[in-house]
Amino acid sequence: MSVLFSPLDIGPVRAPNRIAISPMCQYSANDGCASDWHLHQIMSYAMSGAGVVTLEATGVLREGRISHGCLGLYSDENEYALARVLQAARSVAMPDTKFSIQLCHAGRKGSTHKNWDGGGSLQAHENAWRTCAPSALPYSDNWHVPEEMSEEEIERTIAAYGQAAARAARIGFDMVELHAAHGYLIHQFHSPISNKRKDSWGGDAQKRLRFALAAAEAVRAATPAHMGLGARITSTDYIEGGLTVEDGVEMASAFKARGFDYVCVSSGNILAGGRPASGPGFNVPNAARVRAETGMVVRTTGFIADAKQAEEIVAERGVDQVALGRAFLDDPRWGWHAAEKLGVTLQLPKQFNRVAPKVWPAIKLARPA
Ligand SMILES: Cc1cc2nc3c(=O)[nH]c(=O)nc-3n(C[C@H](O)[C@H](O)[C@H](O)COP(=O)(O)O)c2cc1C
Repeated sequence: MSVLFSPLDIGPVRAPNRIAISPMCQYSANDGCASDWHLHQIMSYAMSGAGVVTLEATGVLREGRISHGCLGLYSDENEYALARVLQAARSVAMPDTKFSIQLCHAGRKGSTHKNWDGGGSLQAHENAWRTCAPSALPYSDNWHVPEEMSEEEIERTIAAYGQAAARAARIGFDMVELHAAHGYLIHQFHSPISNKRKDSWGGDAQKRLRFALAAAEAVRAATPAHMGLGARITSTDYIEGGLTVEDGVEMASAFKARGFDYVCVSSGNILAGGRPASGPGFNVPNAARVRAETGMVVRTTGFIADAKQAEEIVAERGVDQVALGRAFLDDPRWGWHAAEKLGVTLQLPKQFNRVAPKVWPAIKLARPA
């Protein structure tokens, strides 16, 4: 009996198995609007065998995007474009597949080049935009120095999380994930490394959490009870004086108290280079700790790529769900192949009957050497 392929209740949402596709920026949107690339990619993930497909970091404001190619949910055009993608993906999805979207504001990590153009801040002639953050501190040398956010800008940004969540609900997503990790705006407020404010949005842990929790409340208020809510959180900044796993536990509990159903435990990236070399499943121990101390549904991410490794994490290592990124980029049928390795029979779309696992080994054998 595979635990990986057993259903998981995430608040009101039942995922058919414990495999999630991790959110992955595709840098392929046009002014925040999903393109044919997304159509292809999300349709393909819909039939991948993953129980939850999470769409990439999606800007709650135009200036909250990471790059010119990032998805957004700040306009009607964005909403129509994503609705097209979700509708098409559902039409080919494996039974009970759930769709989620990650809402993000990049803060001081915004206005950057697409990853394949080398990342790093845009130059003025590249249509760069003004960036903002809790404090006027850059992510790294040669990055934009952000403007410290005013009270009014903070309130407007919190409201934007709610407005984007309302759009996600209208489109028909099953779940929303708040991006509170990887050095983006919520993490910038949470971490003492990037938040040096002296007002009620900075200082002790409670004050540094205030922005995250206000965004969470805005999202909860904007979404119906049948949607699942979660957040990707940081369990360590890997920096002396930065966030630790205790801060991750505290944040998860506070999200839970505001009606959130799960957290995905990640780490790092509050500063460039602030993440050491990592091994297989490197966030698993912290994720298990967050689950043990909060009783929340916990997902984790990072260097999980093998079916047996994923099975072991959910069966024996105290985590409910795994989120895989690069494994699905490499193999959009990862779920099928994991099922095969774990002796699980999946109901594949009928169009694939002739390559069903039982037939496939015979085909491989019949190939000329
Ligand atoms: C191309 C690419 C884009 C990514 N974009 C996002 C993103 O939008 N949001 C996010 O939280 N993490 C993002 N990540 C991190 C992944 O979600 C994942 O947590 C990380 O790659 C570690 O998991 P893996 O070893 O299974 O790839 C991205 C990673 C890759 C490779």
